[in-house]
Amino acid sequence: MSLIYVLNGPNLNLLGKRQPHIYGHETLADVEADCRKVASELGHEICFHQSNREYEIIDWIHEAREDGGGIVINPAAFTHTSLAILDALNTFEGPVIEIHISNMYKRESFRHHSFVSHRADGIITGLGTEGYTLGIRRVATMLTAPKKD
Ligand code: DQA
Repeated sequence: MSLIYVLNGPNLNLLGKRQPHIYGHETLADVEADCRKVASELGHEICFHQSNREYEIIDWIHEAREDGGGIVINPAAFTHTSLAILDALNTFEGPVIEIHISNMYKRESFRHHSFVSHRADGIITGLGTEGYTLGIRRVATMLTAPKKD
């Protein structure tokens, strides 16, 4: 059993109400329930957080260094701005999957660059909120796969 951190950046607390034509109607509580269900089917536990503050996300990444097996992260707008979140993720040794509900590459050009992608082992963008459970499945696979150097 591993603890998988699922971390969410700014404005994702408004999921379901915020631009539903882009982000859909599911709330973050729905996403959390889906993540818990899939993780428990795979024999893992979830530590699920959202914050509008960059430092809190960094602190949770540091916490994951102590007790986390993997990280699934939707950094939201911090994706495009935060070298500090990239630096924090670079201190974490387990699998990291970056999630975006919308397809960033179909949107404005300022969303096309991600700091976090420099560390992520995989990126899921544009698969809606289903991306979260797919990300958890991938982390679970990576946790059981033999390590490649
Ligand atoms: C997002 C995409 C980002 O560009 C945006 O700032 C978000 C959400 C997504 O999930 O599609 O807040 O990460």
